[in-house]
Amino acid sequence: MSGAFIVFEGIDGSGKSTLCKRVAETLGARGIPAVATAEPTHGGIGAIIRSGAAGPISQETEALLFVADRNDHTERIMESVSEGVVVLCDRYFASTVAYQSSGLDGVAVDAEWLITINSRFIDRPDLVILLDIDPEAGLGRVDSRGEEVSKFEDLEFLRRVRSSYLDLAERFGFRVVDASRTPDEVYEEVASIIRGVL
Ligand code: TMP
Repeated sequence: MSGAFIVFEGIDGSGKSTLCKRVAETLGARGIPAVATAEPTHGGIGAIIRSGAAGPISQETEALLFVADRNDHTERIMESVSEGVVVLCDRYFASTVAYQSSGLDGVAVDAEWLITINSRFIDRPDLVILLDIDPEAGLGRVDSRGEEVSKFEDLEFLRRVRSSYLDLAERFGFRVVDASRTPDEVYEEVASIIRGVL
């Protein structure tokens, strides 16, 4: 069987990470080689982004760092896919477009420029699933997990991110899944979509 590259997108608290891992585990249990991965990555440039070690940088510079991290990550992803692995990735290029164009701290980077800089370095995923949820509900989940709230987790900002995601979904043919339902309901729909591409 050939591998596949499947991406999960959504605002913070949409349930991407848990779902990504659950799908990888379920496929693995069925004998289908699968791995869950995420962006920003946890090594190299991704680790620099996550730690804030790049210092105070502009939104454009931050966008370029996300894309640089993605460039290296994409090479590793496509190598796994060519070896027959199903790669489930928590965030990919749409995260940069949706987040960096949504005016964090009042600075919105041009969405078309963000799409252009990504296009040089990405591979088109076989499937992108957008877990769509109202930001208030999403932030409620982040809060209830007792997680540290990142600079990206502001309600008004996340409303713009959600709207940008929905525009991108239409433009690039992402599958939009209502993530406000129970984890099992969301999982069942996602599993059925994935069965359709494997
Ligand atoms: P995470 O919470 O999914 O680990 O991602 C960390 C934060 O990074 C999240 O709030 C979204 C943000 N982000 C961007 O702003 N642009 C990007 O390109 C990526 C991959 C993440």
